[in-house]
Amino acid sequence: MKQEYVYRAFERFWHWMQAALIVFLGVTGFEIHGSIRFFGFEQAVTYHNVAAVSFLVLIVFAVFWHLTTGEWRQYVPTWKNLKAQAQYYVFGIFRNAPHPTRKTVLSKLNPLQKLVYAGLKVLVIPIMVVSGLLYMFYRYPQRNQVLSLNIGSLEVIAVLHTIGAFLLVTFFIAHIYLVTTGRTVTSNLRAMITGYEELEGDPDDNKAPRVSHEPALSK
Ligand code: HEM
Repeated sequence: MKQEYVYRAFERFWHWMQAALIVFLGVTGFEIHGSIRFFGFEQAVTYHNVAAVSFLVLIVFAVFWHLTTGEWRQYVPTWKNLKAQAQYYVFGIFRNAPHPTRKTVLSKLNPLQKLVYAGLKVLVIPIMVVSGLLYMFYRYPQRNQVLSLNIGSLEVIAVLHTIGAFLLVTFFIAHIYLVTTGRTVTSNLRAMITGYEELEGDPDDNKAPRVSHEPALSK
């Protein structure tokens, strides 16, 4: 085993800010939806709007970071070992089977993570942002007119936004469980806090070839 620097400072900052904002947007959003009562409706709307703007700013920085470091390539989905990874989570993990893929600095996501995270990045988060912004601009027509939206389309927007919120809550619950399934129960969590993780030293990685983006990923 070798101690490796897996998650860089911005990456960890972005991860934890995103987690906090999504939880906060979820709590305030579901209060607006009427499912829970915590801050009171009016406060929930104000807090949701402030958190949404912060989330948008974070997204701009995160997109820039992923593009300039080449780290976006980590999320390109692959069929290779996808079935093995899914079978591991359904069966293997309960029989103490070894992880079917190995984590390395150049390939830190397993095939299932690549697929799910790519789906979040290109589908769920954009849906939340676009529907959220349309919702926001619709709700304040005196300041920001979106004249083409009638009440019918607002309903579609609200339903899309709520479906996205349920998907994010589902992801969040699964994510917390999967975080505990690393080499030890806390190894993944500690890695995302400190940046360092004990990884198998063998460079003969079976998850992804060491491809041309290697120089862009240097520390
Ligand atoms: C940039 C991202 C986002 C923007 C711009 C945004 C904006 C909004 C706006 C303007 C509303 C309506 C508030 C009102 O009625 O006055 C709303 C509602 C809501 N938001 Fe968001 N939001 C965003 C992200 C999220 C996220 C990440 C979640 C969940 C994790 C979420 C969950 C909800 C829920 C559940 C509602 C209530 C929907 C309904 O009942 O119609 N939002 N959002």
